[in-house]
Amino acid sequence: MTAKRVLLACDVGEPLTEDLDALLKTEEWESERHCYDALIALGYEVKTLAIFNDIRPFIECVADFKPDVIFNQVDHFNNLSLHDRNVAGVCELLNVAYTGSSPAALMLCKNKALTKELLTAHRIKVPQFTVFNLGKKVTMKRRLRFPQIIKPLSDEASYGIAKASLVMTSEEAIERVKYIHDQCKQDAIAEEYIEGTELYVSVLGNDRLEVFPIRQCSFPEEEGAPKFATFKVKWDEEYRKKWGIKYEFARLNDARLEKRVKQLAKRIYRILRLQGYGRLDVRLTAEGHVYVIEANPNPQIAKDEDYALSARKAGYSYEQLIARIVKYAEDIHPRLIGR
Ligand SMILES: Nc1ncnc2c1ncn2[C@@H]1O[C@H](COP(=O)(O)OP(=O)(O)O)[C@@H](O)[C@H]1O
Ligand SMILES: [Mg+2]
Repeated sequence: MTAKRVLLACDVGEPLTEDLDALLKTEEWESERHCYDALIALGYEVKTLAIFNDIRPFIECVADFKPDVIFNQVDHFNNLSLHDRNVAGVCELLNVAYTGSSPAALMLCKNKALTKELLTAHRIKVPQFTVFNLGKKVTMKRRLRFPQIIKPLSDEASYGIAKASLVMTSEEAIERVKYIHDQCKQDAIAEEYIEGTELYVSVLGNDRLEVFPIRQCSFPEEEGAPKFATFKVKWDEEYRKKWGIKYEFARLNDARLEKRVKQLAKRIYRILRLQGYGRLDVRLTAEGHVYVIEANPNPQIAKDEDYALSARKAGYSYEQLIARIVKYAEDIHPRLIGR
């Protein structure tokens, strides 16, 4: 039997000047390397390709290599994260199975307002919010309670999120909205700030879903310390150490609560049409209410990220996890292309 062919597709923010396989050995490409090594260890024939702002090399590579599955690690095209859905769409047009979510989930989750509107229709608790469109005059149009958090409407990885994102007054809110418009060049969303424990709930599957042990980000009580996952919190280990911020397994100490959070994660996953693997980010208030902050189709999958750590705790080796994600891609493919 010939080995399964897997094309590991990644994105780059500028044209590559070096060989991708050499780059994969560097620290910056750790996440892709983890996937690559796992795919090789699984015995697949693997080819890598980086996509920047031209889709044609990708189409040609698929035609030449004829992958059985595309392991989709592309979350930007031409530095725009909203195009992730279109890359998934191209995989469908090329009739090749691809990992993770389809354009539907990528679209529903990328727009943080749309996600929340849909969840509200299902009576799932989300922070109240309002959107400030780019290019329109910034005035406070609706009375949201303070504190509020101001974010890019359609981004990820905490881009544009800093301590200054948490605002106490209309003036501060307007200033931060303008910052998002100017710096991130996109619409801004203002959400009521939900005080509570930040939980990350990792889900695997298409129809039958498995929810892994929950993780949390713990912030210190200390005055001046960040209380939410800013860009620095997420990506700067030294900064986390300095403040004593920890990503760790959740200590809910309440089996019923844990079950409730896991059931909710499954419901959200289905409502938002996630497939393969996904992570739901929620906040649990002191009163026991669970508010959805964000749904992440195709979450970060490096070995040391929350998703893989949760899977590990559930008993999946990294290779087993990657193999499952590939299998779910193949399972769902006929349905995605209408066969
Ligand atoms: N409404 C909110 N209430 C409390 N914290 C929030 C809220 N929205 C965002 N945050 C904090 O900001 C972080 C990043 O926000 P998120 O919407 O997940 O953006 P990204 O897509 O960039 O990860 C969250 O992990 C959380 O710590
Ligand atoms: Mg997030």
